[in-house]
Amino acid sequence: MVTMDKIVALTKRRGFVFPTSEIYGGLGSTYDYGPYGVALRRNIKDAWWHAMVISRDDIVGLDSAILQHPRTWEASGHLESFTDPLVDCRACGQRFRADQLEDVQCPQKPSVHPGEGPNCDLTEARQFNLMLETSLGPVRDAGSIVYLRPETAQGIFANFKNVLQTSRRKPPFGIAQIGKSFRNEITTKQFIFRTREFEQMEMEFFVPPDQAEEWFLYWLDERMRWYVDLGLSPDHLRLRPHEPDELSHYSSGTSDIEYLFPTGWQELEGIANRGDYDLRQHAQYSGEKLEYFDQGTGERYVPHVIEPAAGVDRAMLAFLVDAYDEDEQEGEKRTVLRLHPRLAPIKVAVLPLVRRDGQPELAHEVHDALRPLMASEYDEGGSIGRRYRRQDEIGTPWAVTIDHESLENRTVTVRDRDSLAQDRVAIDGLPEFLQRGLAETG
Ligand code: GAP
Repeated sequence: MVTMDKIVALTKRRGFVFPTSEIYGGLGSTYDYGPYGVALRRNIKDAWWHAMVISRDDIVGLDSAILQHPRTWEASGHLESFTDPLVDCRACGQRFRADQLEDVQCPQKPSVHPGEGPNCDLTEARQFNLMLETSLGPVRDAGSIVYLRPETAQGIFANFKNVLQTSRRKPPFGIAQIGKSFRNEITTKQFIFRTREFEQMEMEFFVPPDQAEEWFLYWLDERMRWYVDLGLSPDHLRLRPHEPDELSHYSSGTSDIEYLFPTGWQELEGIANRGDYDLRQHAQYSGEKLEYFDQGTGERYVPHVIEPAAGVDRAMLAFLVDAYDEDEQEGEKRTVLRLHPRLAPIKVAVLPLVRRDGQPELAHEVHDALRPLMASEYDEGGSIGRRYRRQDEIGTPWAVTIDHESLENRTVTVRDRDSLAQDRVAIDGLPEFLQRGLAETG
């Protein structure tokens, strides 16, 4: 049974995720990604970019700045409405989200939910804005305040006209963006599920108003399929439409793709029908016309927007949780990440059986031939069993072993992480063998 503690321990032990500023005691709910974490995230982002931009004619990319004009956040409604209700406890001095008291524990004994202990003394709830502030320029005053973006979406709306004019697209078309966002979350504490600095993969799809519902349903299906194609178990995924009282200030309909995390069903991605709210707001605040004019038909309208909004960190956590497995091999417990080969940080490990008799030299030759084609790792330290276990724990789908026979007839064994089958393959045919393996898994 996979627990969050096991995921935290494995990802630390193997160099996927480290607590930020650990040598200084850490910094609340921020994380750094180590060598395998970076590779996994890059593969997740590449898979998203490929599905959203490269493989389609109707979506283009954008990379807008983290710092936007402060009016952006007035227009978007974030300055006024991007808040969480917060209560303080006068007894213990802690701060909690008023709508999530049942999910947390009072730090004092007896261990109960905040407000339920004999000494608890909670204030009335008040609204707390989640945007992080900084100031721009040499003078720090009210006029210099800017915000770190809480979502990448607004940079897309602000560039609607630029992209429309330069990309020669017409609705229905989309603009996709991957980048960091920041929120001063009150409740974190679920590893990388909810952090204050995180990365989003968002796409705003601009459609004629009468096509909004049809495209909303289309994107629900597409986004569910993306996760399943990359290996998430369909049993661990579900769609949950938002209740009217949960809808964000901009949304006329949202469904969450939820994943069964070790902590229960929680949002993995939100798909929203944002209507024409954003373009109208930015048009009003900027004075620019943000609409589409069809020169062929003479029709003029403000497009409606369907938005699939995913998180890189949360997707990474879901892929790790789903891939985590423990089994027994030759009487020994094995931990294995059964990551989809496309997501695996390392595709192939090249391992000389012993560190002599010309095996390391031949292994280096094999590794050098594979490296331009896929992420390959050379490892000669420790027993072969321990090296296999290490690769299993980082999710490497194939391990190539160079043994004495390899020097006689230029063949190697290829061990499959999941079936543990060992195939004898000619070194000359190895690149093709592995590339076929990658292609077969999609
Ligand atoms: N533009 C719409 C928007 O930002 P959201 O539901 O607030 O919608 C979209 O965020 C996705 O971004 C979430 O489904 C989640 O995957 C990710 N996300 C949001 N807040 C996060 C946080 N504090 N930490 C990690 N990921 C977060």
